Amino acid sequence: MAISKQDFEKLKELVRDICGINITDDKFMVIERKLESFLSIISSQNFNEFLEKLALPSGFLLREKLIDVITTNETLFFRDVHPFETFSTIVIPRIEDLLKSRTDLSEGKFRIWSAGSSTGQEPYSIAMLLNEYSEKKKTLSPDKIEILASDISSSVLSRAISGQFNSSQIKRGLKPYFLDKYFQKSGNKWVIDEKIRNMVEFRRINLIDNFSILGKFDVVLCRNVLIYFDTQMRKNVLEKINRVLFDGGFLFVGASEIIMDFESQFSSERNGSTIFYRKKLSETDSHPAIQSL
Ligand SMILES: C[S@@+](CC[C@H](N)C(=O)[O-])C[C@H]1O[C@@H](n2cnc3c(N)ncnc32)[C@H](O)[C@@H]1O
Repeated sequence: MAISKQDFEKLKELVRDICGINITDDKFMVIERKLESFLSIISSQNFNEFLEKLALPSGFLLREKLIDVITTNETLFFRDVHPFETFSTIVIPRIEDLLKSRTDLSEGKFRIWSAGSSTGQEPYSIAMLLNEYSEKKKTLSPDKIEILASDISSSVLSRAISGQFNSSQIKRGLKPYFLDKYFQKSGNKWVIDEKIRNMVEFRRINLIDNFSILGKFDVVLCRNVLIYFDTQMRKNVLEKINRVLFDGGFLFVGASEIIMDFESQFSSERNGSTIFYRKKLSETDSHPAIQSL
């Protein structure tokens, strides 16, 4: 079924309302192709009827399926390598120091959020690094670590929760050391160590929604997600992320994503090839223990 330009515009608006993703015009052919098989699965011949069903409150499952069709879930272990080196060498020791003086609601926990975690390679990479650190330093106890990983797509989340990866996923980004230490072969799958799997809590969170109930975080990774949003949505999400970060908390975005026009909320810092951001101290709620690096 061919989709008219007019229908494509309606779909773009609907997708923006559902998840903030900005479908650009150059994606027309790709989306048309993806939707064709999707529409045949749900046996809808009429695009308007499909759009109406999607917009209904009862269209939840249909919207879930559409999200799976629309989202790009590309990810890999230790993606871009250098941000994870920065995480190990700069962020963990710095937060560990801060935890000693913290007397707030986090109960001295080191809280990390991987927002837009896809099939789990990003939060599991973080969990392996934290486990390495706590084994070597003994000063950071695993029960002090909380890793939340979220995505809008329930299907990628269930794959992440399974902790199972196929051989092509395993070949991407994992050094032999991590593969040998943290994965077990089971049939044609590789299963991540239960200890690492249990370090990560997965939840479905749409970044378009209010997420202040999640509490405060020391580190937020929102990598290769903002690129799919338009300027306004990006701005909203960054403001909300700023609010859930502790003063001085760290934000990592994708290697090709640069945060501009947020000087009042974030300062940017560089470590080698990594640019990362830190929440600026709020004037009313400053934390004397936090200095810049
Ligand atoms: C390209 S993946 C990035 C995965 C990982 N962060 C990385 O850098 O390798 C982008 C993820 O963002 C998720 N996403 C897109 N829009 C979202 C939204 N509104 N709320 C939550 N997650 C969203 C997609 O489902 C997808 O899994």
